[in-house]
Order: sequence, then structure tokens, then C-alpha cells
Amino acid sequence: MIDRIVDTTEDPEIDKELEQTLRPHNFDNYIGQEKLKENLKLAIAAAKKREDTLDHVLLYGPPGLGKTTMATVIANEMGSQLRITSGPAIERAGDLASLITNLQDGDILFIDEIHRLHRVVEEVLYSAMEDFKLDIMLGKGPSARSIRLDLPKFTIIGATTKTGSLAAPLRDRFGMIHRLEFYSPKEIEDILQRASSILGVKLKPEAAEVLAERSRLTPRIANRLLKRVRDYADVNGDGIIDTKITTETLKLLDIDSRGLDSADRLLLDAIIEHYDGGPVGVETISALISEERGTIEDFIEPYLMQIGFLQRTPRGRQVTNKAYTHLGKEKNLEG
Ligand code: ADE
Repeated sequence: MIDRIVDTTEDPEIDKELEQTLRPHNFDNYIGQEKLKENLKLAIAAAKKREDTLDHVLLYGPPGLGKTTMATVIANEMGSQLRITSGPAIERAGDLASLITNLQDGDILFIDEIHRLHRVVEEVLYSAMEDFKLDIMLGKGPSARSIRLDLPKFTIIGATTKTGSLAAPLRDRFGMIHRLEFYSPKEIEDILQRASSILGVKLKPEAAEVLAERSRLTPRIANRLLKRVRDYADVNGDGIIDTKITTETLKLLDIDSRGLDSADRLLLDAIIEHYDGGPVGVETISALISEERGTIEDFIEPYLMQIGFLQRTPRGRQVTNKAYTHLGKEKNLEG
């Protein structure tokens, strides 16, 4: 995959400091996702009142919008211990068995990329989630027998970029299914101001506005850009982040006024130049720009669609007039 500053995958190295210092710990300092917070607050209050565990929660939506962060907040608000794993990390049914038999009553298990769980693992998870029982096969052949273990009462928080690829029986076992939305520019500004005060940097309100417009409505990107701008301000200025410093840094990073980087422009340009703006199938785009379909669908398209630059139609992807205007391109009307 191409290297992008606007990449929304979690980078353990780059994000370590950010994750630890900037991540909100409770609902009060988690900015945005108001509807989701409201729903979760209610469910948490009810679970606490009944002295019960929280229902299983499925969070879905584009990367970088705070699914892992929300899981930590939920655990803190419940006063529960959080264990973190991911779909691809659980290779065998036995891995899952050892994970969940080591949980305690009330623990929360966060499974990132839950759509990538292996089928055999997924099947073990069904009865674990539903009845808090674990069926294990002992031995092979005619002497094989199955035993049923009682499990502690735990909560699964699953995260996925796509609910579509989650098997229906698994999806049905979640009591709450919520989509994380893109943030508003104002919310991103607030997140930037909060991060700046934690990092001890001075971010002027006008600069926060510019930065928010270019952060793809995504906190992870906003915080990453803030660090790059802070570097630039420290080296080329007096450490104060103003509009000039911000636009100069973003120019250096090749990020335009709507937060598009070269990968976004490559995709839009390819559809415009080769297919008159579309519609064209995603597989064709994938071949044209040498990028994997999954990367296009998860990392490039969601934001382009959110800002109305790209549409998904039954016949394929279509670049909108708005995108033509932004890119300063003329539509070829002769077809
Ligand atoms: N940092 C990253 N995401 C955040 C959010 N939603 N609220 C506050 N700080 C954040």
C-alpha cells in the first residue's frame, strides 16, 4: 500500500504517543459521535443498575473514527477490564478458547477487524456469545468427544470497517450495532484544540479551522497532521501554529484544501481521464491505479463519498461535478 500521511490505519510507532496521551478516557472528554454516546450511556447505566454485564456491541465505520477509543471509554465507564485482540490474530479455535477462558466476569474483549475472523473461530464464538458456554472437541476419530465449559459472563466489542462482510449469525449476536460517523469540521477543531492543550502547543483558532478542513473529518488524521504542523512551527517559526505555518506544512505534505492527497487525486484523475468520470467498476480502477480493491474501498473512497466527490452507482463509481470543479477540470460532454 502507498505511504500516506492521511493513512487511517493505526501505526503502532507513530501513534503510540498519540494513543496514550490524546485518547479520551470517558464520555465527557470524547468529542463527537453524540448519538452513539447517548445510546451507550443508556445501556451502561441500565447494565450497572441491574448489576449485569453490557450487551455485546458491534461498531462499524471507516478506519480512524475512534472504534478502539470508544471501546476503551466503554470499559472505563463500566469499570471493566479491557482485553484487546483482532480477527486475524485469532488463528485457531483453541486461541479463542484460551482467550475467553482467561476472562473474568464483567471483562470486555475488544476484537478489531472482526470480519477477518476465521470461520471455525467464528463458530466457536457463537455459543460463547449467546450462552457463555464453550464447546470443545477432545480427541479425533471414533473416540472424539465434546465437552461443554461454562464461561465467565463477558462482553464482546467487535469493530469492523464493513458490516456487509460479517456473517449474519455473528451479526445477530450483537445486542447493539452502531455506525461511527465522520466528524463535523467543528468537532475536529475541538479535538485539535484539546490535543494541542495536552501537547502544550499554541494552535490559533483560524489555523485549527484550516487544519480541520484538511483532516478528512477523521480524528486520527487530525492528530497526525497536528504533529507535523507542530514540527514545522518549531523549526520554521516560534512554535505557535498559525494559518501561514499550517498551509505551508500541508503544501509540503501535498495535501490540498479539502484534505485530498496524491492517492485521492490519482483515483479521481484515472476515472476522469480513462472513463470520462465513470461509471466504472472498482476492479478496473484497482488495475488502473495499481491499488488493492480493499484499500480503495476502506481507505480512499469513504471520504471522497462523504464530501460528495464520488458516488457509488449500480454500474460503478462516478466522479461528481463537485470533484471536477475542485480539481479544476472540464467535463468532456461529447462522450
Ligand atoms: N482524540 C481522538 N479522537 C478523539 C475524540 N473523539 N474526542 C477527543 N479526543 C480525541
